[in-house]
Amino acid sequence: MNYGTLYGVGVGPGAPDLITLRALDVLRRAPVLALPRSNDHGASMAWQILRPTLGAVADQLRLFLTFPMSKDPARLRPAWDAALAAIGAHLEAGRDVAFATEGDPSLFSSFIYLAQAAPSRWPGVKVEVVPGITSITAVPSVTGVPLADGQERIAIIPATYGLGDLEALLAAFDTVVLMKLGGELPHIIATLTRVGLLDRAVYVSRATMADQRILRDLREVPAARGDCFAMIIVSRKEHSGVLAGTPLRSICA
Ligand SMILES: C[S@@+](CC[C@H](N)C(=O)[O-])C[C@H]1O[C@@H](n2cnc3c(N)ncnc32)[C@H](O)[C@@H]1O
Repeated sequence: MNYGTLYGVGVGPGAPDLITLRALDVLRRAPVLALPRSNDHGASMAWQILRPTLGAVADQLRLFLTFPMSKDPARLRPAWDAALAAIGAHLEAGRDVAFATEGDPSLFSSFIYLAQAAPSRWPGVKVEVVPGITSITAVPSVTGVPLADGQERIAIIPATYGLGDLEALLAAFDTVVLMKLGGELPHIIATLTRVGLLDRAVYVSRATMADQRILRDLREVPAARGDCFAMIIVSRKEHSGVLAGTPLRSICA
């Protein structure tokens, strides 16, 4: 059977001009645009980001798909399967589907589930990823604090899934990126204070968007559950990357 191609397209972290040329090309050519949102009536962040740059595309169908913000597989699986079925109807009719994701499709994106499930449902279907600028690199661009240099190591942590080992992570990595903050801010502040790293942390919500916020004192972050599009980056920076290490024979060996 000649299925359409399933594309996972990263639309970048928020600023409309941080979409890649390849992403725009795929998004403009696809007859079906799949747009994730977290509830049936809410807005799709991916759509908000790409709408101004995409412009009007004649005869393009927009498919809004709901992926609940939940960790409960019993809630997630039916929603994901419904999204898969909606997309599948178009793939089976030979139509390409471009699934737009905020940031990059390979990092904490509902596209990962679809890409893994598609080949067993539609054997031989083509799945392509168009990478996007991720929030992990967008945040350093607005804070001016580099992620890592030379021998420095980075950890990327989805905070809502548990921070019991945060102190150990802060000791083992030069930079710790805390995403999906949920209600974990008090725990994060307490741990950073205990280990003396509170002044090495920065909170950024909606990096590169019009309403971006940067707080270098975490105690100023509103106490309530924070913004869904926010992260904290802790940069220990006790040594400075390349200059601090043992000389290597060859970086590429
Ligand atoms: C479901 S993940 C999606 C990540 C996305 N695929 C990416 O590549 O950035 C959502 C988390 O990414 C982070 N995030 C996404 N966009 C952001 C932005 N513009 N500014 C700050 N954090 C952001 C937040 O930690 C948020 O909880």
